[in-house]
Amino acid sequence: MLGPLISSTGHAGLRLQTQNLRVLCDPWVSPGGAYLGAWFPFPDNSHLRAVPGLWDAEWVAVSSAHLDHMDLAFLSALSDGVRVVIPEYPSSAFRDRLCAAGVKEIVEVAAWERLPLNDRGDWLTAIPEQSPADHRAAFLIVADGVSVLHCNDAQLSLSQTRRAMVEVGGPLDLIALDASEPRFRAVKRLVRSVKPRLVMPYAGPACFLDPTLAQHNQHNQHICEPGELPAETLRMFPGDSVRIAPTTHDVIRDPHWEGFAYSKHLDAYASSRAQEIAEVWAAHPDPGAGSGLAARFKEHFVRLRRLSPYFLERITMTVRFDVSGADGGVWDVDLGTPHSQQAPQYTFGVESRWLDAVLSGEIQWEDLFLSRRLLIEHTPDADGTYLFGLLKHADAEALRAIEDYDKRDPNATVTLSSGDRAFEVTRYCPHSGEDLAEGAVIDEAPEGLVLRCLAHNFDFSLTTGLCLNARCEPISVAAPA
Ligand code: FES
Repeated sequence: MLGPLISSTGHAGLRLQTQNLRVLCDPWVSPGGAYLGAWFPFPDNSHLRAVPGLWDAEWVAVSSAHLDHMDLAFLSALSDGVRVVIPEYPSSAFRDRLCAAGVKEIVEVAAWERLPLNDRGDWLTAIPEQSPADHRAAFLIVADGVSVLHCNDAQLSLSQTRRAMVEVGGPLDLIALDASEPRFRAVKRLVRSVKPRLVMPYAGPACFLDPTLAQHNQHNQHICEPGELPAETLRMFPGDSVRIAPTTHDVIRDPHWEGFAYSKHLDAYASSRAQEIAEVWAAHPDPGAGSGLAARFKEHFVRLRRLSPYFLERITMTVRFDVSGADGGVWDVDLGTPHSQQAPQYTFGVESRWLDAVLSGEIQWEDLFLSRRLLIEHTPDADGTYLFGLLKHADAEALRAIEDYDKRDPNATVTLSSGDRAFEVTRYCPHSGEDLAEGAVIDEAPEGLVLRCLAHNFDFSLTTGLCLNARCEPISVAAPA
């Protein structure tokens, strides 16, 4: 049977192979896990490191700088000539981290831009989430005429998913996505609306093998099973594959999983990673008295405070850091405009060793949050949206993109074209605010050309601006200036 062979590489990763193409998406296979030895793929995918097919990719698509997607140890060990494809985000932070890790061939793809993968018509595009608050993206790949939407943990809107269908000219053959809680209901709605041929839920959240974090595993129990989603669902373990032809598919199981039981897995898995976890601790010793941690901490926040007046205005709170270790202390940071000087609304409890990793630039604040090697307490009324945004991005360009997104002008217009005709139209849909720059297509209808908002399929005449199939305010339509 012809058609691409799609293999699970565990966690949120897959490999696509045809006779003329080898693409890896979000491989996370390094033995040391991610986020300071906190996260590990679940179930264990380490047997794949011995599979040559993991290492012979021509293209590696990495959706985000999250360390369970951007496996720096793996990426920096790939042979020269392997091209690493990343989505274009508002800041260069993702590319910079890859460059610093020694990744040489980086190809940035703008949203919806088609990147040819060979000279046989196979292509890939990136679909970033609409809000720049999180830098996550899906990849849409078409190979041998079969379409794969690798969503990983990106939360695409319905309109984006419908536009992906328009791009490939029909239903998607495979959607691979995170269907774990708390996303399961939204994923179910999406799948019901777009009716892909096949759905591949990723294996579920990571697990915590460090005994100091084992309590977090209690949340990792929901595994999406066939029958739970309204489409044919492939339950794939790392190494399992499916050959997808235009009208048929064939699942090939990895014999590695014969006799596997989740109930017996975690303890043995934790023992097998004890060495790697011990190495993470050894690589991050307590900085010791006189290390200058407090001074570096202060400098760090002086820099953060300068990044975005817009964020500071919205944070306006005192944040306490309760830092344990020989050189630690209790340090309050005033994040506000004007200076807030209040009782702390957020308190972060953290060991000096992990804080040091952030201050030295080894990891980002978001990595530390995700590692759970930091305790967070807050007052009941505290709103941490902008505080976490500031810490998570710590980058002026990324913060400015969020500010611009927050301040979207409801009267903005955008130019869209069809063939050689262009129209300047209302940018945000009058129904429910969909960004028509991305979430709309121009189509022929009996009434003439229409602009179809893909969020809820409302059609607007490109002659009059009137909504033709629902009760809705019109859009403005003009010839571009
Ligand atoms: S947002 Fe509902 S149709 Fe546009």
